[in-house]
Amino acid sequence: MKKIIVAIDGYSSCGKSTLARALAQKLHYVFIDSGAMYRAITLYFIQHKINIQHKEEVTNALKKINLSFEFHPESEQNNILLNGINVENEIRNMAVTSKVSEVAAIADVRKFAVAQQQQMGKLKGIVMDGRDIGTTVFPNAELKIFVTADPAVRVERRFKELFEQNKKVTIEEVKANLEMRDYIDSNRSESPLRMADDAKKLDNSHLTKEEQLSLAYNWALEKIKE
Ligand code: DC
Repeated sequence: MKKIIVAIDGYSSCGKSTLARALAQKLHYVFIDSGAMYRAITLYFIQHKINIQHKEEVTNALKKINLSFEFHPESEQNNILLNGINVENEIRNMAVTSKVSEVAAIADVRKFAVAQQQQMGKLKGIVMDGRDIGTTVFPNAELKIFVTADPAVRVERRFKELFEQNKKVTIEEVKANLEMRDYIDSNRSESPLRMADDAKKLDNSHLTKEEQLSLAYNWALEKIKE
């Protein structure tokens, strides 16, 4: 059967990764969470106290970063490795989360990540989620989905997720972080978040995970059969 590329974009905490992972599983495709790559780079910068205002420091640091994905049988998910170390959990902490949009706005960082993402899509049969997948990484993707949800629904979902890990987190903090990330992601000069002209919009505010998966799966089947 023909293999396609599915590009899934949207704001933070819209459920993009949940959808992308489930869709990849159903299609027997590779799933790549491109945000995890920006998060792992951010973690490296924090660990090595890289001054992100210094172009040269950033360029040199990028040369020392190796990113890869490894299938984790217990969770049945791909985990990201930073220089061979599994950092899948660490990249989700608040320190990384509050810094990642700033790091992802740096042109050299994006060039570095996008080149690797495009390489991963060479054989197709991939579902990738992020902010610029349909616009920059795979402008020719056969299926592009732009996921949205009401801001209040997103805050609530993200709060629940974070509260499981850290009971001290407040809803105000989560809301402020989401608003800040939306702003930076949409207003940066390097591939800002926007819906590709040929993307299908999927508002999941009132959809269950199963309903949104079924919608996306049918869109994918249509494209595969074309
Ligand atoms: O999807 P996420 O929340 O894990 O993404 C983390 C950050 O990385 C987010 O603030 C925006 C950035 N990002 C990006 O700029 N481009 C992508 N393709 C994916 C993520």
